[in-house]
Amino acid sequence: MTRTAILAGMGAVVPPRSVENEELARTLDTNDTWIRTRTGIRTRHWTDTGTSTGDLATAAGARALKSAGVDSVDLVILATSTGNQPMPATAPEVAAALGLGQVAAYDISAACSGFLYGLSAAAGAIASGVAGRVLVVGADVWSTRLDPQDRSTTIIFGDGAGAAVLRAGHADEPGALLGFDLGSDGAGRELAQVAGGGSRERGSGRPPSPEDAYMTMQGKEMFTQAVNKMAASSELLLERIGWSAADVDWCAAHQANVRILHTVADLLGLERSRMLVHLDKVGNTSAASIPLALTDAAVSEQIKAGDRVLMTAFGGGLSWASTAMRWPEIDVMEISTDI
Ligand code: COA
Repeated sequence: MTRTAILAGMGAVVPPRSVENEELARTLDTNDTWIRTRTGIRTRHWTDTGTSTGDLATAAGARALKSAGVDSVDLVILATSTGNQPMPATAPEVAAALGLGQVAAYDISAACSGFLYGLSAAAGAIASGVAGRVLVVGADVWSTRLDPQDRSTTIIFGDGAGAAVLRAGHADEPGALLGFDLGSDGAGRELAQVAGGGSRERGSGRPPSPEDAYMTMQGKEMFTQAVNKMAASSELLLERIGWSAADVDWCAAHQANVRILHTVADLLGLERSRMLVHLDKVGNTSAASIPLALTDAAVSEQIKAGDRVLMTAFGGGLSWASTAMRWPEIDVMEISTDI
């Protein structure tokens, strides 16, 4: 039987400082009612000075290893678009901080789809025998890249990290990643981007502009793309693994806007109540959003062992990804603010 990646443990963290809608409304032309009704977000967590993406990733990774009951892996994959620095990757730092030794470690840059891209890379490494056990972390600290004057991004994004330990097993075990659908469209690059800091800007001959260090987003177009791409990718995935929408107990979709979640449910023919909603507590945490939502749902026993879970994500790139599993019997600790 084919060697398959199985979910063995999960862990997640957010920084302790919570930033309420009212706090943002003190400096931006916005208000709590608009943010709640147009996005579903009530609060989010932002890091304090001195905390990096690597710190969050390490804390989430430690909890995932504990949840899986292991202290070693063969590979660490960190999905992030806000790494500690442009070079080197942050994953080796995370592996070292976790005391995992000189294991293979690399970053994946796929914005809000990064965690599912990471699961796919880990599943490939396990299937091919490159690794027997993999730690996949999704972590982002977008608060350091938000233009404080930009109400379309500042109200949405929160910081956080979520991690999963995958082990080798068989496709018929609970927790097996049953298949993937992945895609990208570089023609949409400018819809959500940090324009500065890379070779395009550095090689332009122009002095770097401080504004280009901020994330910009064309919200309306991203909304439309998010809905269409997550629905289409989910449908392809379900067909590939032989599930219908009626088989899906829970859908963990990228948490950007509750209206996006409802529209994806409508397009897929899923009850809206099947969509996990965690963004009200943490905002859009980019690569961390799916593992955070799953951790929250597992701890509250919304998701139970045996439930069929569809995961789907969309983000900058453009990039999108979907996968699915039957939820395994695992011990998951509540989301921590202990970084
Ligand atoms: N507070 C108050 N009013 C706001 C506002 C805010 N934060 N942001 C926009 N508005 C206003 C606009 O000025 C506009 O006013 P007008 O009708 O008088 O011109 C109105 O609200 C609607 O603006 P619009 O840009 O159409 O808002 P929206 O409903 O599309 O919501 C987002 C904006 C950013 C919340 C929404 O587009 C979104 O969630 N996009 C998707 C993000 C995403 O999926 N990212 C993907 C992965 S990262």
